[in-house]
Amino acid sequence: MIRRASIPGRINILGEHTDYAGGCSLAFASQHRLILEAEFIESGVFGEETVVALWSEAGGPPARLNVSSNIPIGKGMSSSAALCLGIVLCVHGDSLDRQDACKEAQRLEHVVLGTPCGLLDQMAMMHSIEECCTLIDFSNLETSTIPCPNTWKFKLVDSGIQRTLNSEDYRQTTSEVKKKLHVREENARVHQALNSTNEQLGELMNQTHESLRMIGVSTPEVDSVVKSLQSKEGVLGARMMGGGFGGMILVLVENDSVLPQHPLLVPSKAGFIEELF
Ligand code: GLA
Repeated sequence: MIRRASIPGRINILGEHTDYAGGCSLAFASQHRLILEAEFIESGVFGEETVVALWSEAGGPPARLNVSSNIPIGKGMSSSAALCLGIVLCVHGDSLDRQDACKEAQRLEHVVLGTPCGLLDQMAMMHSIEECCTLIDFSNLETSTIPCPNTWKFKLVDSGIQRTLNSEDYRQTTSEVKKKLHVREENARVHQALNSTNEQLGELMNQTHESLRMIGVSTPEVDSVVKSLQSKEGVLGARMMGGGFGGMILVLVENDSVLPQHPLLVPSKAGFIEELF
């Protein structure tokens, strides 16, 4: 038997560094996918070293493991969360509910990869619906689905700066007071976004970047890429996305002809598992 998990990338519109503080986020699944294929065999576990380590920690049976992915690695799009979710779905099939799968994937990321992540990535990947955004409230782990207005057009621009989340604890950056202020204001921005025009959303994204800069998870190099994008004709807002210190910049554009070399992001379906015999 072969199990095949298909997991999307994670795009976070607003609500960054709020998940582990009981805040909220507005996110969606991107068209990028990680595919993990697990072929169940008589004995042994074969595959790339990290994949085998995750599989063993998850209690997987003997298997040949093969990963292919077009989720950019180390760019703030949660390629590692996607891999952990792929492992969990292939080990457990559909016997775990979505939220338990998210929690188990988070546990694997903590234990095997050493990244002290929250639940944003896993929940965005497992609760998303095509053409929609997911509002996640981390104080009670509830999600609500909101149709993504077709005037909200997002693109990703690579800052060219690589991040290393587990070598630098992304939570230990600034004073508790600043972090609390960030979470409070970020939560307000998430709620304002729900009824906002694209111009208003762009402004909220710019404010989020400024707040991320204030809590110390951006870098001067990233700030200067963000600034230059924000001042481009047709760009309504831009901010660093994900854990910090580099990676992708999320850009809200007026229309597809802005930043023509970058494709539009497409809100896509959640992670799923299939069985092939
Ligand atoms: C990383 C973590 C998430 C979240 C974001 C910041 O992607 O894995 O849990 O904390 O950073 O919003």
